[in-house]
Amino acid sequence: MAIVNEEDIVSEKSAFIDKQCDTLKTNRESKMAKQNVYDNEGFFENFKDTRSKKINFNDCIETPILLSLLPEVRGKTVLDIGCGMGQHAKQYSNMGAKSVIGIDISERMLEYAKEHFTGENITYLRLALEDISALDDRFDLVTSSLVFDYAENLDELMRNVYRLMNSGAYFVFSMSHPMATAWDGTCDRYTRTASGERLYANVPNYMVEGKRSVKWVVKDYELYHRTFSTIVNAIVGAGLKIERCEESRVSDEMRTQYPEQFGGTLHRPDFVFFRCRKVNI
Ligand SMILES: C[S@@+](CC[C@H](N)C(=O)[O-])C[C@H]1O[C@@H](n2cnc3c(N)ncnc32)[C@H](O)[C@@H]1O
Repeated sequence: MAIVNEEDIVSEKSAFIDKQCDTLKTNRESKMAKQNVYDNEGFFENFKDTRSKKINFNDCIETPILLSLLPEVRGKTVLDIGCGMGQHAKQYSNMGAKSVIGIDISERMLEYAKEHFTGENITYLRLALEDISALDDRFDLVTSSLVFDYAENLDELMRNVYRLMNSGAYFVFSMSHPMATAWDGTCDRYTRTASGERLYANVPNYMVEGKRSVKWVVKDYELYHRTFSTIVNAIVGAGLKIERCEESRVSDEMRTQYPEQFGGTLHRPDFVFFRCRKVNI
């Protein structure tokens, strides 16, 4: 086993951060005009409360499926796009990653991550997903959890991710399922019985792609809806090979135990997951 001097790691890490920050400062000034709703205090507090509850969509549904798609993490250099409060970055570090870089647009989310989910080999950077081409490094594993709904240009994002990957690297990500993002606020998310029981999901204007501005915690919560085939074609169009695809499944037991939270999952999946690989042909 190689013996590594801790001071060397720290100084290497700060040189890396200084270099990245110089590039990013210029980049941020020129390009950053994106929605940053997680820096809205009310939205942030609401998300933090929801995420810290024992029963939440992230920990109970999203994370187990995402983890099941990961390759061996030990020894890999990892980039987590839209790292939020840092739970995933910390998990990859605990799984033996060589290094983890978490990037996010939100200062509040990053502040929380730096306070609660730190690690010797974890670096958090304020960087928008639209600007990841500013990163100099190449990675063995790129991950992202529930962030790509905010990307206006998915084709470009996929091409940028591809460029950041080493040959043979993996790209594992989740995003909201198109059947969920289709909802445009013009009706209830579900058609219900008189007593409020969900009968089926409403998927209005599924074929109309583009920005959805809906009331969700804040008045104008923005995300981008695209069809399933558009997502798949963005991935393969960038040159990535799709190795696996999953849609979030919730067990009958969970649905019965927590009907309020998970009752609707019988009718449509909330998330879609892909494990992709950069394979040179
Ligand atoms: C639903 S949270 C997920 C956070 C984290 N990945 C997790 O699973 O807990 C979405 C995250 O995406 C970030 N985000 C939204 N738009 C972004 C953008 N344009 N660039 C980078 N991060 C963005 C938000 O700040 C937030 O931290």
